[in-house]
Amino acid sequence: MKKVTVIKIAEKGVQHLNALETKKIPHRVWSPRVNKLNVSMKVHAQTERLTLREWTYSDVDEYAEIIADPEVMKFIGNGEPRPRAMAEDFVVRMVQQQEDRGWNRFAVEHRKTGALVGFSGLDMQNGLLDFGWRLGREFWGAGYGFEASAAALWIAQNTFSLTKITAQSFPENVGSVRIMEKMGMAQIGEDAFQGKLLLVYGFAQEWPDGLTK
Ligand SMILES: CC(C)(COP(=O)(O)OP(=O)(O)OC[C@H]1O[C@@H](n2cnc3c(N)ncnc32)[C@H](O)[C@@H]1OP(=O)(O)O)[C@@H](O)C(=O)NCCC(=O)NCCS
Repeated sequence: MKKVTVIKIAEKGVQHLNALETKKIPHRVWSPRVNKLNVSMKVHAQTERLTLREWTYSDVDEYAEIIADPEVMKFIGNGEPRPRAMAEDFVVRMVQQQEDRGWNRFAVEHRKTGALVGFSGLDMQNGLLDFGWRLGREFWGAGYGFEASAAALWIAQNTFSLTKITAQSFPENVGSVRIMEKMGMAQIGEDAFQGKLLLVYGFAQEWPDGLTK
């Protein structure tokens, strides 16, 4: 794997957010499911240009813009852009996972501007540890996808000791397949979504018999 330097790991470093940020919390998030604010977040790692950190409710606006973009969503699920309500649900789920187990699809922030770049990290899907990445279109083509994912992999393996990580992509999603290859993953099997082929990648040494469900 090409080297990405994770230059700062602040496992215990909790950054306290200004309480004023709570003003940005959308009404829908104030549901009985979320009856408290997350006024602090943990930074998992920093690379040269990016911070990988926990999610906060104030990320909803920027994340909603990312998933409303049809180009971003083209190779995800049924390829449809997603409504704001799904961004809210996603952030609520991420905050819950942070509390429950620590790891998730980490929020990726641009260090210089503070903008939300997107996410890279892990989730459980159909019994597999699934590695995924999704960046706002303005951030494509500058190496951020690989930089974020190499750092997310580092955190998954070193901070959370996770193994048997898989990743899936439609073969037409060339950038995504390339990120899997650059991280040292190889095809270990295949799956399908609505009749369309999905390539399943993993670290070959962890899957000597390929993908066995
Ligand atoms: C996939 C995605 C994360 C790539 O992000 P990115 O920041 O543009 O990727 P990088 O710049 O780090 O590029 C990584 C590699 O892929 C290549 N690549 C990226 N996009 C490509 C494209 N559209 N076509 C061909 N190659 C591409 C790059 O050239 C680079 O390879 P190289 O180092 O050998 O030159 C981004 O396009 C994205 O968020 N897409 C929408 C969400 C998505 O599809 N997620 C994956 C679902 S499985």
